[in-house]
Amino acid sequence: MGQEPPGTAADIHHRIWTELQRATVDRHHEWRTPVLATTGLDGLPQARTVVLRAADATASQLSFFTDRRSPKVVELQAVPAAAFVFWSKRLNWQLRVRVATQVHTEGPLVDAAWARVSQSAAAGDYLSPQAPGSALGDHTDHEHGAHHLAVVTARIEHIDWLELARTGHRRARLTDDALVWLVP
Ligand SMILES: Cc1cc2nc3c(=O)[nH]c(=O)nc-3n(C[C@H](O)[C@H](O)[C@H](O)COP(=O)(O)O)c2cc1C
Repeated sequence: MGQEPPGTAADIHHRIWTELQRATVDRHHEWRTPVLATTGLDGLPQARTVVLRAADATASQLSFFTDRRSPKVVELQAVPAAAFVFWSKRLNWQLRVRVATQVHTEGPLVDAAWARVSQSAAAGDYLSPQAPGSALGDHTDHEHGAHHLAVVTARIEHIDWLELARTGHRRARLTDDALVWLVP
């Protein structure tokens, strides 16, 4: 697919996944920190930044790490449908990605993620006795030494791709096997 002429459906698909994968390893990539939008428990929108940890083109899946006690986890368990928004000034590309999420709090995926995070400065974030969003000083968890890392996998349902260009904007809706051009 990398051999496709620039601008074709297969080429755009390939370039999107190449950039998503780069973003998981390049700290300076603008797509490393997408906004994740969810439905709050009150039915109203919620959004926050997360770090993109994996992008699997074959499985059409993204993932990020979080604290399993965080409000977003409760929200995703209630309503697994969510959206990521990515913007890159360098590429002049926006992605609006509709996903079906799954929260993993144990198992090999979480063990592998913890093996990675526990070596990093972020380890402390997941060992805190206090749940994210709780009032400072409000100790709710007395389980010492246990981590609270969860992995959220997000299966992509479709991507709304928007390219800004002086010569004319382009927009397309991508699913696993098709690309449909849209009016920008
Ligand atoms: C640059 C940046 C990266 C972040 N990455 C993550 C992340 O990967 N996972 C996470 O749970 N929170 C991350 N956060 C914090 C979230 O944006 C949010 O403040 C926190 O997780 C609480 O969200 P919630 O109350 O909706 O659960 C990040 C914040 C910033 C500014």
